[in-house]
Amino acid sequence: MSSFNQSRYPLLDGPTPLTRLKRMEQKLGAPHLFIKRDDHMHLALGGNKLRSLEFWVGAALEERADTLIAAGDPNSNQCRLTAAAAAVAGLDCVIIHNGERNDWGLKASYPSHLLGAELRFVGPMDEARRAAVVNDTADKLRAQGRKPYVIGNAVLGALGYALAAAELLSQTQQNGYALRHVFLPGSMGPTEAGFIFGNALLGNPFEVHLVSVEYGQAELAARIAGIYDDLQHATEQRVPQFETLPIHFHMDYLGDGYGVPTERATQAIYALAQTEAIFLEHTYTSKTFACFMDMATAGTLPPSEGMCFIHTGGTPALFSQFDLFEKMPAGA
Ligand SMILES: Cc1ncc(COP(=O)(O)O)c(C=O)c1O
Repeated sequence: MSSFNQSRYPLLDGPTPLTRLKRMEQKLGAPHLFIKRDDHMHLALGGNKLRSLEFWVGAALEERADTLIAAGDPNSNQCRLTAAAAAVAGLDCVIIHNGERNDWGLKASYPSHLLGAELRFVGPMDEARRAAVVNDTADKLRAQGRKPYVIGNAVLGALGYALAAAELLSQTQQNGYALRHVFLPGSMGPTEAGFIFGNALLGNPFEVHLVSVEYGQAELAARIAGIYDDLQHATEQRVPQFETLPIHFHMDYLGDGYGVPTERATQAIYALAQTEAIFLEHTYTSKTFACFMDMATAGTLPPSEGMCFIHTGGTPALFSQFDLFEKMPAGA
């Protein structure tokens, strides 16, 4: 499991910290609460996509690419971290932002600018049109004699989180922690599917709780099951059927949709900041942590089965989400 026979370009500095949320345990009256700090990596403020980028950049270098292309809205963590990976790997980086080149967009993408990426704002558009723009951009670069690599292959990206499951298990065992329930945002799927696949290869030491931040349950499950099956074929590893795995879907935290704040998520942002001095943002981590807090408070999981929130990062987005707080009470 250590390599999956895929090229991997190192972007992490060893395991990310796994720490106990001691003050949150006191606040909620719940034992064995942990956080895995994937927001705590040494490159460009970190985040889950750096684990995927180890494999994407590995593939790009194997193809002798000279330019990474990434696409997303100006707040995209994948774009920022692609710019970071390109900087340290000595590659050029072109970022396609579906959004206007306005004050907000420029501020949100400022880290990618600092990292040396070329930012192209192509106006608001859906994912299908944006993918067409990306392909067109790659074609034009090829015509100029460049060798672009388009970031985003879900299976390659998922491998990073298959390794993260092994990393978490090894840290859990080394420290003798009681840790059974792992909480992740449920979104496009590579992070979740990778973790679930790695967990399955390890014999399912963890139960995986996915808190939807984007899709309804059927679509979220179908996306993740699809990547899980593709991982199985790509790595030729035998794992149990997706339907038999210990996965729990939490659908009550999405609110009005992707990126739209909820009162409960806002409270979670204040609560984690004011007990542990750890930041969450509005789109992914606050909704997931709100669920984590509610489950810890409800006490429905056996107390001996500890809970771990995987902080997938995205923290820089918090600072361009300031206006989202105006309507919200500071209810820590
Ligand atoms: C901070 C953060 N958490 C979670 C996710 C979801 O990851 P995935 O796209 O692999 O589902 C993202 C995706 O961009 C993210 O930026």
